[in-house]
Amino acid sequence: MQSVTDLPFMRVIARRGGPDWFVTEFFRVHPASKPDRYILRSIRENTTGIPIFAQIIGSDADAMVKEAKILLRENVAGIDLNLGCPSPTVCGKSAGGGLLRHPEDIDRMIGMLRDAIPTRFTVKTRVGYSDESEFDTLLNIFRKHAIDGLTIHGRTVVDRYQTPVRPHCVAKAAATLACPVIANGNVVNARAGVNYHQRTGAHGLMIGRGAIRNPWIFDQLRAHYQKTTALQPRACDLLAYIEDLYAELARESKEFHEVHHIQRMKKTMLYIVQGLGEELEHAMRRMKTEEEFFALCRGALNHSQPLPDVPPEQSKLFCGFHTLLAP
Ligand SMILES: Cc1cc2nc3c(=O)[nH]c(=O)nc-3n(C[C@H](O)[C@H](O)[C@H](O)COP(=O)(O)O)c2cc1C
Repeated sequence: MQSVTDLPFMRVIARRGGPDWFVTEFFRVHPASKPDRYILRSIRENTTGIPIFAQIIGSDADAMVKEAKILLRENVAGIDLNLGCPSPTVCGKSAGGGLLRHPEDIDRMIGMLRDAIPTRFTVKTRVGYSDESEFDTLLNIFRKHAIDGLTIHGRTVVDRYQTPVRPHCVAKAAATLACPVIANGNVVNARAGVNYHQRTGAHGLMIGRGAIRNPWIFDQLRAHYQKTTALQPRACDLLAYIEDLYAELARESKEFHEVHHIQRMKKTMLYIVQGLGEELEHAMRRMKTEEEFFALCRGALNHSQPLPDVPPEQSKLFCGFHTLLAP
């Protein structure tokens, strides 16, 4: 996830179990681009032992091929094509989710990338730009080019991040594509993940925001399938996670600027504090110094009460997940 799931975040999450593989933030590609150096570090300095895919986003198929070939010289598990980003700037350039309006361009780009990538080539998509009726055409393109994996964020681009996901679309892909299909969107806890998996027959799950809020979610899911017991995190575990992330991010900065560092932490904290009380969220948005930051975190979390299992429904950052919690 752009500006959030960077190298320090990956290190911190890997210490708490972590996923089976990571995907980088997207490398923006245009004819004159070179791979972003900061994102490259999450590949070159990935010492977690967890394989990492390099994700690319762009609209110029030749440039995408060129960048994919450069990235293939790195220690990557494969190349992932982003067809899901709903940002108006990105879509306006017919990249990311914006490409879903142009299936013929996707067909050409995926064909060229498939020819250029001898190893794993995967795609991350939504179920359409404005309507799920577009999904069949997309599936035909993915099938035609024999991609190695498809992650589906079960919303349209127009849905952005707010609506419930559409498990029936993911199920259709899982039943009809030869490659593994990964279900994504709204997995806020292990129960939501297990339900999404069961309803779709997907081969796996991709988790974004839910893992920022609950970095133990991958181990909790593993424990469910292996019938073992996972950590049920308490407030002090969350505090240790926040302190770990703060230190990792500080270690990465060439020069430590308190104001910048606090701004960077805020991006992540806004996901973490969901469900811990509106007062804390408001205070977190306003705080400016390291002292204020730690006073807030320690004041709220230095105890051993269990954490809320799910964020509040209809919070700005987590919406529509109730459909995955229902039995
Ligand atoms: C701030 C932010 C940044 C994101 N950046 C990326 C990205 O770089 N690449 C990508 O494939 N998806 C990106 N996403 C989308 C997520 O990967 C994911 O598809 C979406 O949030 C739904 O899954 P979730 O409910 O598990 O978060 C981003 C989402 C957010 C909120």
